Amino acid sequence: MDSAQLFLYNDSEVDTMSNIDNDVQLFTGDSLQYLTSGEIRDVALTFVDPPFRQGKEYRFFDDNIPEEKYWNWMRKVLHSTSDITLDGGAIYFMQREKNTKEVLRVLRESGWVYQNLIIWKKKTSAIPCGFRFAKQYQIIVFATKGPKPRLFNKLRVDLPLAPGHKYSRPNGVYLTDIWDDIRELTSGYFAGDEAIRVINGDRAHIQQSPLALLLRIILSSSIPGDIIFDPFAGTGTTLVVAEQLQRRSVGIEIDSKNVAIIEQRLERTRQADDVTKLQNYYRFTNNLSSIWPVTAHLSQWRQPVDV
Ligand SMILES: C[S@@+](CC[C@H](N)C(=O)[O-])C[C@H]1O[C@@H](n2cnc3c(N)ncnc32)[C@H](O)[C@@H]1O
Repeated sequence: MDSAQLFLYNDSEVDTMSNIDNDVQLFTGDSLQYLTSGEIRDVALTFVDPPFRQGKEYRFFDDNIPEEKYWNWMRKVLHSTSDITLDGGAIYFMQREKNTKEVLRVLRESGWVYQNLIIWKKKTSAIPCGFRFAKQYQIIVFATKGPKPRLFNKLRVDLPLAPGHKYSRPNGVYLTDIWDDIRELTSGYFAGDEAIRVINGDRAHIQQSPLALLLRIILSSSIPGDIIFDPFAGTGTTLVVAEQLQRRSVGIEIDSKNVAIIEQRLERTRQADDVTKLQNYYRFTNNLSSIWPVTAHLSQWRQPVDV
Protein backbone atom coordinates (compact mmCIF):
# COMPACT_ATOMS: atom_id res chain seq x y z
CA MET A 1 0.00 0.00 0.00
CA ASP A 2 1.22 3.46 -0.87
CA SER A 3 2.19 5.40 2.25
CA ALA A 4 0.06 8.33 1.07
CA GLN A 5 -2.98 6.06 1.37
CA LEU A 6 -2.26 5.02 4.89
CA PHE A 7 -4.87 6.78 6.92
CA LEU A 8 -8.57 6.78 7.41
CA TYR A 9 -8.51 10.50 8.15
CA ASN A 10 -11.97 11.91 8.30
CA ASP A 11 -11.63 15.63 7.71
CA SER A 12 -14.67 16.45 9.80
CA GLU A 13 -12.98 15.17 12.95
CA VAL A 14 -9.45 16.21 12.13
CA ASP A 15 -8.13 19.66 12.70
CA THR A 16 -4.75 21.18 12.09
CA MET A 17 -2.36 21.93 14.90
CA SER A 18 1.11 22.68 13.66
CA ASN A 19 3.69 21.73 11.14
CA ILE A 20 6.90 19.86 11.77
CA ASP A 21 9.26 22.64 12.69
CA ASN A 22 12.75 23.22 14.05
CA ASP A 23 11.75 21.59 17.29
CA VAL A 24 11.22 18.14 15.76
CA GLN A 25 13.98 16.18 14.04
CA LEU A 26 13.10 12.91 12.37
CA PHE A 27 15.65 10.54 10.87
CA THR A 28 14.76 7.68 8.56
CA GLY A 29 17.16 4.78 9.02
CA ASP A 30 19.00 2.71 11.57
CA SER A 31 19.14 4.13 15.07
CA LEU A 32 22.73 3.10 15.77
CA GLN A 33 23.89 4.78 12.61
CA TYR A 34 22.37 8.14 13.59
CA LEU A 35 23.21 7.73 17.26
CA THR A 36 26.89 7.59 16.41
CA SER A 37 26.80 10.23 13.66
CA GLY A 38 27.26 13.22 16.01
CA GLU A 39 23.99 14.78 14.79
CA ILE A 40 22.09 14.20 18.05
CA ARG A 41 23.21 15.65 21.37
CA ASP A 42 22.06 17.19 24.70
CA VAL A 43 19.23 14.70 25.14
CA ALA A 44 17.32 15.04 28.43
CA LEU A 45 15.11 11.98 28.16
CA THR A 46 14.96 8.86 25.99
CA PHE A 47 12.09 6.41 25.56
CA VAL A 48 13.22 3.03 24.23
CA ASP A 49 10.51 0.77 22.82
CA PRO A 50 12.39 -1.52 20.44
CA PRO A 51 11.12 -4.63 18.66
CA PHE A 52 10.96 -7.20 21.46
CA ARG A 53 12.36 -10.25 19.62
CA GLN A 54 9.06 -12.04 19.76
CA GLY A 55 8.56 -13.11 16.16
CA LYS A 56 6.45 -10.12 15.08
CA GLU A 57 6.52 -8.97 11.49
CA TYR A 58 8.62 -5.92 10.77
CA ARG A 59 9.58 -4.85 7.28
CA PHE A 60 13.14 -3.94 8.30
CA PHE A 61 13.86 -6.02 11.37
CA ASP A 62 14.24 -9.75 11.95
CA ASP A 63 12.25 -10.18 15.17
CA ASN A 64 13.64 -13.72 15.49
CA ILE A 65 17.21 -12.46 15.79
CA PRO A 66 19.38 -14.71 18.06
CA GLU A 67 19.20 -13.72 21.69
CA GLU A 68 22.86 -12.84 22.22
CA LYS A 69 22.98 -10.74 19.07
CA TYR A 70 19.84 -8.90 20.13
CA TRP A 71 21.15 -7.94 23.58
CA ASN A 72 24.55 -6.92 22.20
CA TRP A 73 22.72 -4.63 19.81
CA MET A 74 20.59 -3.21 22.64
CA ARG A 75 23.71 -2.58 24.72
CA LYS A 76 25.26 -0.60 21.87
CA VAL A 77 22.08 1.46 21.42
CA LEU A 78 21.94 2.20 25.14
CA HIS A 79 25.63 3.03 25.33
CA SER A 80 25.44 5.42 22.40
CA THR A 81 22.31 6.97 23.89
CA SER A 82 24.19 7.61 27.12
CA ASP A 83 26.93 9.38 25.13
CA ILE A 84 24.42 11.91 23.74
CA THR A 85 22.57 12.43 27.03
CA LEU A 86 22.99 15.30 29.48
CA ASP A 87 24.36 14.45 32.95
CA GLY A 88 21.43 13.25 35.03
CA GLY A 89 19.33 12.67 31.92
CA ALA A 90 16.80 9.86 31.98
CA ILE A 91 16.02 6.74 30.01
CA TYR A 92 12.85 4.65 30.11
CA PHE A 93 13.38 1.23 28.55
CA MET A 94 10.19 -0.78 27.89
CA GLN A 95 10.31 -4.55 27.46
CA ARG A 96 8.52 -7.84 28.08
CA GLU A 97 8.61 -8.91 31.72
CA LYS A 98 10.43 -12.13 30.83
CA ASN A 99 13.42 -10.00 29.73
CA THR A 100 13.71 -8.02 32.97
CA LYS A 101 17.05 -9.59 33.92
CA GLU A 102 18.58 -8.79 30.52
CA VAL A 103 17.22 -5.24 30.50
CA LEU A 104 18.76 -4.52 33.89
CA ARG A 105 22.02 -6.09 32.79
CA VAL A 106 22.44 -4.19 29.51
CA LEU A 107 21.46 -0.91 31.14
CA ARG A 108 24.10 -1.44 33.83
CA GLU A 109 26.73 -2.56 31.31
CA SER A 110 26.11 0.54 29.21
CA GLY A 111 26.61 2.86 32.19
CA TRP A 112 23.05 3.74 33.19
CA VAL A 113 22.10 3.93 36.88
CA TYR A 114 18.93 2.13 37.94
CA GLN A 115 16.11 4.16 39.50
CA ASN A 116 12.83 2.21 39.16
CA LEU A 117 11.37 -0.95 37.74
CA ILE A 118 7.93 0.20 36.63
CA ILE A 119 5.20 -2.37 36.22
CA TRP A 120 2.80 -1.33 33.49
CA LYS A 121 -0.18 -3.52 34.27
CA LYS A 122 -2.34 -3.99 31.22
CA LYS A 123 -6.00 -3.09 31.52
CA THR A 124 -7.47 -5.23 28.83
CA SER A 125 -5.42 -8.33 28.20
CA ALA A 126 -3.47 -11.08 29.91
CA ILE A 127 -1.45 -13.59 27.92
CA PRO A 128 -2.70 -17.06 28.90
CA CYS A 129 0.03 -19.53 29.92
CA GLY A 130 -0.28 -23.33 30.10
CA PHE A 131 1.76 -24.04 33.21
CA ARG A 132 2.33 -20.66 34.89
CA PHE A 133 0.24 -17.62 35.80
CA ALA A 134 -1.15 -15.58 32.92
CA LYS A 135 0.98 -12.55 32.12
CA GLN A 136 -0.49 -9.12 32.49
CA TYR A 137 2.26 -6.56 32.58
CA GLN A 138 5.19 -5.08 30.74
CA ILE A 139 8.20 -3.58 32.44
CA ILE A 140 9.63 -0.11 31.99
CA VAL A 141 13.01 0.46 33.61
CA PHE A 142 13.72 4.07 34.54
CA ALA A 143 17.47 4.79 34.78
CA THR A 144 19.67 7.87 34.72
CA LYS A 145 23.06 9.01 33.51
CA GLY A 146 24.75 9.28 36.89
CA PRO A 147 23.31 8.43 40.28
CA LYS A 148 20.82 11.29 40.51
CA PRO A 149 18.30 12.61 37.96
CA ARG A 150 18.91 16.20 36.80
CA LEU A 151 15.20 16.65 37.59
CA PHE A 152 12.22 14.55 38.60
CA ASN A 153 8.70 15.98 38.67
CA LYS A 154 6.60 14.18 41.25
CA LEU A 155 3.22 13.78 39.62
CA ARG A 156 -0.03 13.46 41.54
CA VAL A 157 -3.01 11.79 39.94
CA ASP A 158 -6.69 11.54 40.67
CA LEU A 159 -6.76 7.76 41.09
CA PRO A 160 -10.20 6.35 41.75
CA LEU A 161 -10.71 4.96 45.24
CA ALA A 162 -9.35 1.40 45.32
CA PRO A 163 -11.74 -1.39 46.35
CA GLY A 164 -11.52 -1.84 50.11
CA HIS A 165 -10.29 1.73 50.70
CA LYS A 166 -12.60 3.87 52.77
CA TYR A 167 -11.51 7.49 52.32
CA SER A 168 -11.13 9.34 49.05
CA ARG A 169 -8.07 11.55 48.61
CA PRO A 170 -9.19 15.11 47.95
CA ASN A 171 -5.70 16.04 46.71
CA GLY A 172 -4.97 12.92 44.68
CA VAL A 173 -1.97 10.63 45.22
CA TYR A 174 1.66 10.52 44.15
CA LEU A 175 2.38 8.07 41.37
CA THR A 176 4.10 4.86 42.34
CA ASP A 177 6.04 2.32 40.29
CA ILE A 178 2.85 0.38 39.50
CA TRP A 179 1.03 1.89 36.54
CA ASP A 180 -2.34 0.23 36.19
CA ASP A 181 -4.33 3.20 34.96
CA ILE A 182 -3.14 3.38 31.34
CA ARG A 183 -4.98 1.38 28.73
CA GLU A 184 -2.84 -0.25 26.05
CA LEU A 185 -3.91 -0.06 22.41
CA THR A 186 -4.98 -3.65 21.86
CA SER A 187 -6.48 -4.83 18.62
CA GLY A 188 -10.09 -4.22 17.71
CA TYR A 189 -12.56 -2.17 19.67
CA PHE A 190 -10.35 -1.42 22.69
CA ALA A 191 -7.76 0.42 20.64
CA GLY A 192 -10.39 3.10 20.03
CA ASP A 193 -9.87 6.33 18.12
CA GLU A 194 -6.27 6.69 19.19
CA ALA A 195 -5.07 3.75 17.06
CA ILE A 196 -3.96 4.84 13.60
CA ARG A 197 -5.65 2.73 10.96
CA VAL A 198 -5.12 1.91 7.31
CA ILE A 199 -7.86 2.09 4.71
CA ASN A 200 -9.36 -1.33 5.50
CA GLY A 201 -9.62 -0.47 9.21
CA ASP A 202 -6.62 -2.50 10.38
CA ARG A 203 -4.15 -0.83 12.67
CA ALA A 204 -1.27 0.83 10.85
CA HIS A 205 1.23 -0.28 13.54
CA ILE A 206 0.34 -2.89 16.12
CA GLN A 207 2.98 -1.66 18.57
CA GLN A 208 1.68 1.92 18.77
CA SER A 209 2.15 3.15 22.36
CA PRO A 210 -0.63 5.01 24.15
CA LEU A 211 -0.28 8.77 24.45
CA ALA A 212 -1.00 8.53 28.17
CA LEU A 213 2.15 6.47 28.69
CA LEU A 214 4.43 8.95 26.97
CA LEU A 215 2.66 11.85 28.63
CA ARG A 216 3.51 10.44 32.04
CA ILE A 217 7.13 9.72 31.17
CA ILE A 218 7.78 13.09 29.56
CA LEU A 219 6.06 15.02 32.36
CA SER A 220 8.04 13.12 35.01
CA SER A 221 11.51 13.53 33.56
CA SER A 222 11.66 16.74 31.54
CA ILE A 223 10.69 20.39 31.36
CA PRO A 224 9.63 22.53 28.39
CA GLY A 225 12.50 23.10 25.97
CA ASP A 226 14.23 19.81 26.80
CA ILE A 227 15.16 17.37 24.04
CA ILE A 228 13.23 14.09 24.09
CA PHE A 229 14.67 11.21 22.06
CA ASP A 230 13.08 8.07 20.63
CA PRO A 231 15.44 5.73 18.72
CA PHE A 232 12.57 3.41 17.65
CA ALA A 233 9.93 5.99 16.87
CA GLY A 234 7.28 3.74 15.25
CA THR A 235 4.19 5.92 14.81
CA GLY A 236 5.84 8.85 16.58
CA THR A 237 3.86 8.83 19.81
CA THR A 238 6.84 10.25 21.72
CA LEU A 239 7.26 13.10 19.25
CA VAL A 240 3.53 13.88 19.16
CA VAL A 241 3.34 14.17 22.95
CA ALA A 242 6.66 16.04 23.24
CA GLU A 243 5.48 18.65 20.77
CA GLN A 244 2.25 19.29 22.69
CA LEU A 245 4.24 19.67 25.92
CA GLN A 246 6.58 22.17 24.24
CA ARG A 247 9.62 19.92 24.36
CA ARG A 248 11.97 19.49 21.41
CA SER A 249 12.24 15.97 20.05
CA VAL A 250 14.37 13.66 17.93
CA GLY A 251 13.09 10.40 16.47
CA ILE A 252 14.65 7.65 14.41
CA GLU A 253 12.57 5.10 12.51
CA ILE A 254 13.84 2.60 9.99
CA ASP A 255 10.59 1.97 8.11
CA SER A 256 9.66 4.75 5.70
CA LYS A 257 5.97 3.81 5.96
CA ASN A 258 6.13 4.61 9.65
CA VAL A 259 8.01 7.81 8.94
CA ALA A 260 5.14 8.84 6.66
CA ILE A 261 2.74 8.18 9.53
CA ILE A 262 4.83 10.29 11.90
CA GLU A 263 5.03 13.18 9.44
CA GLN A 264 1.28 13.19 8.90
CA ARG A 265 0.60 12.79 12.58
CA LEU A 266 2.74 15.82 13.40
CA GLU A 267 1.50 17.96 10.54
CA ARG A 268 -2.18 17.42 11.25
CA THR A 269 -2.84 16.54 14.84
CA ARG A 270 -5.95 14.41 15.20
CA GLN A 271 -8.33 15.18 18.00
CA ALA A 272 -7.59 11.65 19.29
CA ASP A 273 -3.95 12.71 19.76
CA ASP A 274 -4.78 15.75 21.88
CA VAL A 275 -3.33 15.16 25.36
CA THR A 276 -5.11 18.07 27.03
CA LYS A 277 -8.05 15.73 27.72
CA LEU A 278 -5.78 14.02 30.26
CA GLN A 279 -4.81 17.18 32.11
CA ASN A 280 -7.59 17.03 34.65
CA TYR A 281 -6.26 13.69 35.90
CA TYR A 282 -2.95 15.37 36.89
CA ARG A 283 -4.50 18.53 38.35
CA PHE A 284 -3.15 17.89 41.88
CA THR A 285 0.48 18.04 40.72
CA ASN A 286 2.21 21.01 42.37
CA ASN A 287 4.03 22.59 39.47
CA LEU A 288 1.75 21.32 36.70
CA SER A 289 1.47 24.58 34.75
CA SER A 290 5.25 24.93 34.55
CA ILE A 291 5.82 21.39 33.22
CA TRP A 292 2.64 21.30 31.09
CA PRO A 293 2.12 24.59 29.27
CA VAL A 294 -1.27 24.60 27.57
CA THR A 295 -1.08 24.83 23.80
CA ALA A 296 -3.54 27.55 22.83
CA HIS A 297 -4.86 26.04 19.63
CA LEU A 298 -5.61 22.75 21.36
CA SER A 299 -7.58 24.25 24.19
CA GLN A 300 -10.80 24.13 22.18
CA TRP A 301 -10.74 20.35 22.69
CA ARG A 302 -9.96 20.58 26.34
CA GLN A 303 -12.43 18.82 28.57
CA PRO A 304 -11.92 17.01 31.86
CA VAL A 305 -12.17 13.27 31.43
CA ASP A 306 -11.17 10.24 33.41
CA VAL A 307 -8.53 7.99 31.88
C1 LIG B 1 7.85 -1.37 19.12
S1 LIG B 1 7.89 -0.31 17.75
C2 LIG B 1 7.83 1.31 18.47
C3 LIG B 1 6.41 1.82 18.59
C4 LIG B 1 6.33 3.23 19.10
N1 LIG B 1 6.60 3.31 20.51
C5 LIG B 1 4.96 3.86 18.81
O1 LIG B 1 4.35 4.46 19.69
O2 LIG B 1 4.52 3.75 17.67
C6 LIG B 1 9.56 -0.44 17.25
C7 LIG B 1 9.90 0.32 15.99
O3 LIG B 1 11.31 0.23 15.76
C8 LIG B 1 11.52 0.24 14.35
N2 LIG B 1 12.90 -0.28 14.13
C9 LIG B 1 13.30 -1.57 14.06
N3 LIG B 1 14.62 -1.64 13.89
C10 LIG B 1 15.07 -0.36 13.86
C11 LIG B 1 16.37 0.22 13.73
N4 LIG B 1 17.47 -0.53 13.59
N5 LIG B 1 16.48 1.57 13.75
C12 LIG B 1 15.37 2.36 13.89
N6 LIG B 1 14.11 1.86 14.00
C13 LIG B 1 13.98 0.51 14.01
C14 LIG B 1 10.41 -0.61 13.79
O4 LIG B 1 10.18 -0.34 12.42
C15 LIG B 1 9.24 -0.22 14.72
O5 LIG B 1 8.44 0.79 14.14
